Amino acid sequence: MKKKKLVISTGAGISAESGIKTFRDADGLWENYPVMDVASADGFRRNPRLVHDFYNARRDALLLAEPNAAHRGLVELEKDYDVYIITQNVDDLHERAGSSNILHLHGELMKIRSISNPDYIETLDADHLHTSPQTRGRNGDLMRPHIVFFQEAVPMIEPAIEIVREADIFVVIGTSLIVYPAAGLLQFVSPGTPIYYIDPNPAPTPNIPDVTVIRMPATAGVAELARILEKKREEEK
Ligand code: APR
Repeated sequence: MKKKKLVISTGAGISAESGIKTFRDADGLWENYPVMDVASADGFRRNPRLVHDFYNARRDALLLAEPNAAHRGLVELEKDYDVYIITQNVDDLHERAGSSNILHLHGELMKIRSISNPDYIETLDADHLHTSPQTRGRNGDLMRPHIVFFQEAVPMIEPAIEIVREADIFVVIGTSLIVYPAAGLLQFVSPGTPIYYIDPNPAPTPNIPDVTVIRMPATAGVAELARILEKKREEEK
C-alpha cells in the first residue's frame, strides 16, 4: 500500500536538545549577536570577516553536537510514511540522523559557495571548518557561507511549497513562526490535512484551523506524535 506523505517543517527548536542555541529563546543567538551585522546581506558587505567568524563559531559548536531523539524519531517515521523534511536549520543533524529527504530553506552551515557563481558549492570538513574573506574554492573563486542572509531571496521556497501542497499530514517542530517565507508554508497545506505543532512554547496560529498542538520539547513531542499517528493507523485499518 502506498505510504502517506508526511511533511515536517523544522526550526531551531528541534536542535535545542542537541545543545545548539535557538535564535529567539532566552540566551539565544540573537541575544548575543547583532543579527543584522552577522546574518544580513548588508552586514556581509560591511564586514565580511565578522560574518565569516560568526559562522566559524557556529560550525565549531555544530561539530560538538549530535542528532537527538527527535531527529532520530523522524527517521523512524520513514518506516510507515514517505517523509519529507523542510528545515529552516542550517545544521546537518537531520542528515547525520539519517533522514532521506531534506530541503534546507536557509542554506547549510557546512557548505560554502562561490561569490561570483552561486551554483558552485563546496562542503567543508572537520579539518577545514573556518573560512575568511580570503577563502577561495578549488576553482579559485572567492567563497562565502552557503547561508541565506536576511535581505536575500529564499530560492528553495518554491520547491518547499510544492512539497507542502502534497502533504497528507503536516508537522511543524520547534519554530517561532516569525520568519517568512518559511512561516508561511502553513498556508499551503491542503484543506482538511491534519496539522501537528510540536513546541514547548508554541506561537499562536490563529489563521490555521485544526492545529493539534503538542506542547512538549521536540524529543518527547516526536515520540508523542509517533504514538498519535500509530493509533490513527490502527483505527484506519
Ligand atoms: N523542543 C522544541 N522546540 C523548542 C525547544 C525544544 N527543546 N526549545 C525551544 N523550542 C522552540 C521555541 O519555543 C521557539 O518556538 O523553538 C523555537 C525557536 O524559535 P527561533 O529561535 O525563532 O528559531 P526559528 O523559528 O527556527 O528561527 C527561524 O530565524 O534567524 C532566522 O534563519 C534563522 O532559521 C532561522 C529563522
